[in-house]
Amino acid sequence: MQDKIDLLESKNKEAELGGGEKRIEKLHESGKLTARERIGLLIDKNTFIELDKFAVHKCTDFGMEKKKFLGDGVITGHGKIDGRQVFVFAQDFTVFGGSLGLVHAKKITKLMDMALQVGAPVVGLNDSGGARIQEGVESLGGYADIFLRNVLSSGVIPQISAVMGPCAGGAVYSPAITDFIIMVKNTSYMFITGPEVIKTVTHEEVDREELGGADVHNSKSGVAHFSVEDDKDCILYIKELLSFLPSNNMEDPPSIPCDDPVDRKELSLRDIVPDNANKPYDIKDVITKVVDNEYFFEVHEHYAQNIVVGFARMNGKVVGIVGNQPNVLAGCLDIDASIKGARFVRFCDCFNIPLLTFVDVPGFLPGTFQEWNGIIKHGAKLLYAYCEATVPRITVITRKAYGGAYDVMSSKHIRGDFNFAYPTAEIAVMGSEGAVNIILRAEIAGADDPDAERLRLTNEYKDNFANPYKAAELGYIDEVILPEDTRSRVIGAFELLEGKRQTNPPKKHGNIPL
Ligand code: HXC
Repeated sequence: MQDKIDLLESKNKEAELGGGEKRIEKLHESGKLTARERIGLLIDKNTFIELDKFAVHKCTDFGMEKKKFLGDGVITGHGKIDGRQVFVFAQDFTVFGGSLGLVHAKKITKLMDMALQVGAPVVGLNDSGGARIQEGVESLGGYADIFLRNVLSSGVIPQISAVMGPCAGGAVYSPAITDFIIMVKNTSYMFITGPEVIKTVTHEEVDREELGGADVHNSKSGVAHFSVEDDKDCILYIKELLSFLPSNNMEDPPSIPCDDPVDRKELSLRDIVPDNANKPYDIKDVITKVVDNEYFFEVHEHYAQNIVVGFARMNGKVVGIVGNQPNVLAGCLDIDASIKGARFVRFCDCFNIPLLTFVDVPGFLPGTFQEWNGIIKHGAKLLYAYCEATVPRITVITRKAYGGAYDVMSSKHIRGDFNFAYPTAEIAVMGSEGAVNIILRAEIAGADDPDAERLRLTNEYKDNFANPYKAAELGYIDEVILPEDTRSRVIGAFELLEGKRQTNPPKKHGNIPL
């Protein structure tokens, strides 16, 4: 018996060494942790159960039959994070650069199948040179097997991708289909074609970081949702993110005890939203004053900053928050903001996370760039996302809600459950000056002093229409509330909505404008 146990132990040791000490040393020198160290930080102590630890590839080309590493370059298994079950895979860069061959892929798909069946999230720690070149087309098949499962799991279990090293070529599409991408600064990059190919084809000179580093994908492309300092920071973000999410679409997100008084009055909100409609302010100041312990976990922080999205808790229960940001582009909706908002709204709706929307929006951003690049279809995404969302939805209009953007931002008409407005709200078809210039053009042109007349008519329009009361008369606003009461009103309304049941007509799937 002992010799058999010794054999098992030596195999375990061999598998745990991955591509060997030299490669581990090199990895550490580059500022990265090994796949096993990452899992060790992520998963609760003594809860990780590894699967397929001794799996090896079957490739015989290029002398590969002599190069086998137990585990084949990816560690897969399940364990607990903060006491909740998750499935995790971590690519091991020390084995063939974490590249993906058939067996490597099969280990991942086996894990994904199990996760879907038991209803637990999948966390992927990606660190790979892409398709294992020696295995050729089998690698491509392996990727496609993963992509299919990413799609089938979408909206059923949360899927989180951490990019902690290279992620290039078609390999990027697995993270891209998952719900959130976290990228580590300086050591990770994602691109479809690398700098060399780009140089040949388009003659552009660009390095990896500038092409597809964490900063680029968090601010320019919007591909990634979080940018983190290093591997340890990355693991912390994954844990924090999971704390806001249910394990699957049949569960509610986990709630925690709340020590922040439900009826806390926030008089400061009277000053945060300025009287002057043209003065900017930070919607995040409003959000933090309203939510539990002023804690807001922002998603997509660096991208399309004219809209803010993220998670918080209210009376201990998770809510998804969307808010126009008057500090950036006056809070206008543009292409990027619409896409960012739509994706977040749809995520929350998939996973039973109630939505709280703060509105201060002067409209859609004008201009040829926006029109030629399809603001019509992209703006429609946000509209579509809100229209189809059946989770509890509360809307608070702090100031402007003009034009089509008023309709889009979870208005009553598209099934907002409780729609509140501050006394400073201006719910109108458009801004006063624009309206007067169009409908009273003749009066202005015919006046002795056109400028003075324009000002007089604009002020008159403002007094009559730039307020919440026309909308309140029509029931488009349920209540005009004092800003300091926002927290208690919102919590009360969400409590009332806990039993909300709403479904959409049966269908195969809708046809969101893509
Ligand atoms: C097999 C690979 C590999 C790959 C790296 N390695 N990428 N082995 N297939 N794709 C191996 C190396 O041979 C080396 O082995 C070890 O991993 C570490 O690689 P280095 O080059 O020494 O590391 P580094 O300098 O850090 O560079 C990392 C790298 C580079 C940028 C990822 O290795 C690289 O460019 N690799 C090729 C990337 C690529 O073209 N992949 C295919 C893309 S096509 P030893 O034994 O020396 O340690 C694709 C299509 C997917 O992915 C389509 C899906 C639908």
